[in-house]
Amino acid sequence: MKKIFIFLGPPGSGKGTQTSKLADKLSIPHIDTGSLLRKNIQDNTDLGIIAKSYIDKGQLVPLSVVSSVIEDRIKKDDCKEGYILDGFPRSVEQAQELEKILERIGTYSLKNDALAVYFDIDNEVLIQRLINRRSCPKCQTIYNLLSNPPKIMDYCDICDTKLVQRADDNEKTARARFETYEKETAPLYEYFKQLGILKELQADKPISEIWENLKKVVFED
Ligand code: AP5
Repeated sequence: MKKIFIFLGPPGSGKGTQTSKLADKLSIPHIDTGSLLRKNIQDNTDLGIIAKSYIDKGQLVPLSVVSSVIEDRIKKDDCKEGYILDGFPRSVEQAQELEKILERIGTYSLKNDALAVYFDIDNEVLIQRLINRRSCPKCQTIYNLLSNPPKIMDYCDICDTKLVQRADDNEKTARARFETYEKETAPLYEYFKQLGILKELQADKPISEIWENLKKVVFED
């Protein structure tokens, strides 16, 4: 089985929902650049101050910032047996940077050890998903007021913490995120295909069905 799993797809396509399940199943870390950057914003770090100005506009945070966050994270001991990257790389430039980071660390390579899973879905469905998303700030469980609501409105089923809405999950910023995705991230589809590491997943199905299909993609590879 592969060691590095890369989840590629537009905002709201379900990458985070499925990554959490796969990380639990394989007992490997779920590395989500969006959450790492939001944690820096919450802690008011220098990096978080830079990141906020881009995230609020739905734009990509500069490569130098994201690259240091990723390198620090995948160098950690818990990544030795593999990991899932959710939201990185997000441009061809970032994919090339990842190859350089992997060379520096000296463990895995994209061509031999990575599987990129593309979440295929229509953008209009996704705006509704995003504005109805809520998440738990404590255990990170993701909900949706329409498709996957908590049992008690606004409270996490797992740890009873009050749920929050992400600042960038409003319609205006969500539309800007889709534009950024089309311009910067969509070309990665061809890049990974050329590299021979791409598999596709229909992401407009129920969460449980996507999970069954994802397991086939991961375990049959
Ligand atoms: P990030 O946090 O990565 O956001 P994103 O890529 O826009 O992806 P999302 O987290 O919005 O969606 P998702 O696909 O994980 O969907 P989810 O499973 O939650 O990035 C935020 C920002 O950080 C970026 O805009 C950028 O500024 C910056 N950034 C991050 N990484 C960067 C990088 N590498 N370089 C530069 N900048 C970077 O699901 C969404 C909702 O739908 C949930 O409510 C869920 O319950 C529901 N749902 C999920 N699956 C289904 C289903 N099958 N049916 C119905 N509902 C479903």
